Amino acid sequence: MLQRPRRIRSNKAIRNLTRENNISIDDLIYPVFVKEDLNELESINSMPGIYRNTIESLLFEMDELTRRGLKAVAIFPVIPQSQKSLDAKEAYNPEGFTQRVIRELKIRFPELLVITDVALDPYTIHGHDGLIKEGKILNDETVEVLQKMALAQAEAGSDIVAPSDMMDGRVEAIRNILEENNFKDTMIMSYTAKYASCLYGPFRDALGSLGSQENSSSNLLTKEIVAPKNKLSYQMTPANTKEALKELELDIAEGADIVMVKPASWYLDIIRDFKENTNLPVAAYQVSGEYSMIHAAAQAGYIDLDRAILESLVSIKRAGANMILSYFAKDYILKTT
Ligand code: PBG
Repeated sequence: MLQRPRRIRSNKAIRNLTRENNISIDDLIYPVFVKEDLNELESINSMPGIYRNTIESLLFEMDELTRRGLKAVAIFPVIPQSQKSLDAKEAYNPEGFTQRVIRELKIRFPELLVITDVALDPYTIHGHDGLIKEGKILNDETVEVLQKMALAQAEAGSDIVAPSDMMDGRVEAIRNILEENNFKDTMIMSYTAKYASCLYGPFRDALGSLGSQENSSSNLLTKEIVAPKNKLSYQMTPANTKEALKELELDIAEGADIVMVKPASWYLDIIRDFKENTNLPVAAYQVSGEYSMIHAAAQAGYIDLDRAILESLVSIKRAGANMILSYFAKDYILKTT
């Protein structure tokens, strides 16, 4: 036999020497939920181990995680119903909750990269990422609000603004307003290929937004407005590849610094396609449903949790991601440091 591929698998040292991909804490971004007017942490039914934080509990957790090597966090605010509106104007209130969280984090942890979501869903009554008129999601009017939102976040100190809304032209519009206001170093991580996925279910529970299990009545707000039941008119059809590449071309032209594929595990082919079609860094978002499925299977005793965490993360790296947003970032740190 001339070829015996098993030779390089025969002991740990050679396996490590020939290993092609690794995960390190430097690859991970930890998404966190934070809620105003909360006295203590709230657990999220569909996301074991993940909580809606108070500002204090978030700072406390970041204290430990940054000491142990966490470099980047993505903030998702949970906004009380009383601050939601049809025009989402709370999204760009300079004294608004998200902006206060950004400031607190940057004061306490100046080195921590703070990434903020630019999309209207936490702030709209109907939970859509855009403004609505006559039952339709408005593009250009929404982009104007997103510009103000991104600017407010940059002013508060956000290092990276991350439009996750999937409106057309938003990266260029955000880039322009940041330039005009002298935020030349604020980065844009674009949710370039964001698919209309069932895997966002637990996240919507966490936020209490559109189609969430804890808030399913928000689907049809017939009294105030007619809202589409799903996000299919802006998020992408799971069956499509070319459409993702088209979005990629646009985001490169519009000035994105980092391009993202979301979700990650069922879209590894898209991550690979991005890697091959751009010189920009590629991010992947291992979303709430991916996290919860792994937890559920582990809880039932079907798979081993620790191994599933590492295997899922390294698969995303192997596909071509430079960085991964993952709710497992914390488990990873606690287990490896
Ligand atoms: C909303 C947004 C979503 C996620 C991140 N930003 C949900 C959605 O589009 O409905 C999902 C993240 C996750 O599931 O972990 N702009």
